[in-house]
Amino acid sequence: MSDPERRLAALADEIRAHKGAHCGFEVCETCTQLVPGEGPAGAKIVVVGEAPGAKEDAAGVPFVGAAGKFLDTLLAEAGVARDAVFITNVVKARPPKNRDPKAPEVAHHWPWLEEQLAIIEPELLVPLGRHALARFAPDAKIAEAHGQVLEAGGRRLFPLYHPAAALYNGGLRATLIEDARALGRALA
Ligand code: URA
Repeated sequence: MSDPERRLAALADEIRAHKGAHCGFEVCETCTQLVPGEGPAGAKIVVVGEAPGAKEDAAGVPFVGAAGKFLDTLLAEAGVARDAVFITNVVKARPPKNRDPKAPEVAHHWPWLEEQLAIIEPELLVPLGRHALARFAPDAKIAEAHGQVLEAGGRRLFPLYHPAAALYNGGLRATLIEDARALGRALA
């Protein structure tokens, strides 16, 4: 195991061990388990969603539900293997009833994401949806920023609509597929 792989694995252990820390944050205390994320330390792309849902909470793995299946399709359209990408979330624990994470919860979990990014040093960070985008580029609007490279905060972003949004809005599906192909071109 390389040093970055070891550091990433140790960080994942630290995140999982946070369950039971009695930190007072509802998400940490009500989730089944924390979901650190998965993928290689050498990933060129890091995909960042908002927070685990019910399926992810049960499995301990990000994006394994319906939105995850569509994410797999999008990565295939971009010509990227899922296991070559690091996939995680801004918040590592499922909010009760899938409510939006609260700002203090995001702040509580943010250092873990920063540390993951510091270890991986991706070429491109793909925030999914307006909530994840807002964490990296507070002034950007997903409707304008999606499907293209955006430099923000010293990072190279490639924002996409959240794949879950396409499950409720069929019109977004075609846009997401088009954007995924553009992601593939940006990586070429
Ligand atoms: N939606 C997210 O934002 N993250 C997941 O892991 C699953 C669904």
